[in-house]
Amino acid sequence: MTDDRRHPIFARIYPRLDAASARAGGGAHRDELLAGVRGRVLEVGAGHGANFAHYGEGVTEVVAIEPEPRLRARAVASAASAPVPVAVRAGVAEHLDLEDASFDVAVVSLVLCSVRHPAEALAELRRVLRPGGELRYYEHVRGETPGMVRFQKYTDVFWPYLAAGCHVSRPTGAWIARSGFTVRHERRFEFPDSRFPNPAAPHVIGVAVRE
Ligand SMILES: C[S@@+](CC[C@H](N)C(=O)[O-])C[C@H]1O[C@@H](n2cnc3c(N)ncnc32)[C@H](O)[C@@H]1O
Repeated sequence: MTDDRRHPIFARIYPRLDAASARAGGGAHRDELLAGVRGRVLEVGAGHGANFAHYGEGVTEVVAIEPEPRLRARAVASAASAPVPVAVRAGVAEHLDLEDASFDVAVVSLVLCSVRHPAEALAELRRVLRPGGELRYYEHVRGETPGMVRFQKYTDVFWPYLAAGCHVSRPTGAWIARSGFTVRHERRFEFPDSRFPNPAAPHVIGVAVRE
């Protein structure tokens, strides 16, 4: 199923925000996310293709799914200069038009905060990964202190309307662990480093294995 989810303002702004984030450390996070990835890779919610330059040797093909048309066009342009073959397609995480067990690795970065139905998206990611395949994830997530969680829940009353469906209070790492994956490694950190409370600062980068 293809499903155009148009967010024209977000799609214009996001690549610039991401460029600033990359300079502040986001580029290194993408390197960490994709270190050692090999084989056939599915990237869901690829945006404008910010991860593509970070794929390394051993990746035979990346299939990149992106529902937002303007971002998808930018991703096609990024794919042309990527170090590995990247095929960009329309689609949504909840209904992947892909065969069972057909990928070695699945990648989501800053996406599970925005998908409408995260449980369905995780079930689809699990379905298309081969047994033993890896889910690599880089997501901003629910914080660890009651004060931060409260702040995030208030923020989520309006934030999804401003940021193309993004939520800041999702416990994404915990959801992955309950969705047929074994979390092999997860690093929690705050990003960006700021003196001011930021409801989108708690992040995780992790590797989970499909059971
Ligand atoms: C914050 S951007 C992150 C883009 C990119 N992954 C990155 O790391 O820069 C969130 C992305 O998720 C995509 N997205 C939102 N809902 C989705 C869904 N249901 N299925 C797939 N992608 C989705 C958006 O179109 C957008 O490209």
